[in-house]
Amino acid sequence: MAITLAFDVYGTLIDTGGIETHLQHHVGDKASGFSSVWRQKQLEYSFRRGLMQRYETFAVCTGHALDYACLFCKTPLSQAAKQELLNAYSRLPPFAEVKAALTQAKAAGFRLFAFSNGTEDAVTRLLTHAGIRDLFIAIVSVDEIKTFKPHPAVYEHFLTRSNAVNTDTWLVSGNPFDVLGAVAAGMRAVWIQRSSDAVFDPWEIEPSLTLNSLAGLTEAISCHINNGNKHR
Ligand code: LAC
Repeated sequence: MAITLAFDVYGTLIDTGGIETHLQHHVGDKASGFSSVWRQKQLEYSFRRGLMQRYETFAVCTGHALDYACLFCKTPLSQAAKQELLNAYSRLPPFAEVKAALTQAKAAGFRLFAFSNGTEDAVTRLLTHAGIRDLFIAIVSVDEIKTFKPHPAVYEHFLTRSNAVNTDTWLVSGNPFDVLGAVAAGMRAVWIQRSSDAVFDPWEIEPSLTLNSLAGLTEAISCHINNGNKHR
């Protein structure tokens, strides 16, 4: 059976750190700290909304997290400035190696899907802007079931939508919580450790593979499968 690859979007294909350039215009040398509070809160809000069963889109989590970061960093911004930042968020750049790596994976016969907390519209915009939308069979969004990663239902939903079985499906993600969610759901998972400072959560679950970018992804997964690890 063909192998299915589920690519996380924010932080895996798309560089959320790209917002720092825009933030520098608004908050100067606080940009790096601001950007990291913003991203952490965005994810925390998605987790909390999932637990509370108070779903709003990921864009709403991003907007509320931006408001929080302004308060936390003591850098009030006008509504116009916030809107400009949110617009920039919808046009964030891809990581440099992404297009070549996806092209190679597709040519190798893997089935490529984007799989994200973002809505289909938001992800379509990002991937089209990055020039990689056409490399994917489809975009699978958590919005279709109104909860967020890493709820197990989200990974089940991905398998249903992609018509795939978990043991032949690999999540590719830069987010450890996403890797944990996928492996817990019986999928394989590659953790993309984009920075040597990034730490994988020390739980009882480990990634099937760890790479520091998408370069070499096709070889690494093929090698893992050919070495008889398929059902491990
Ligand atoms: C996503 C976030 C979790 O794209 O990065 O799903």
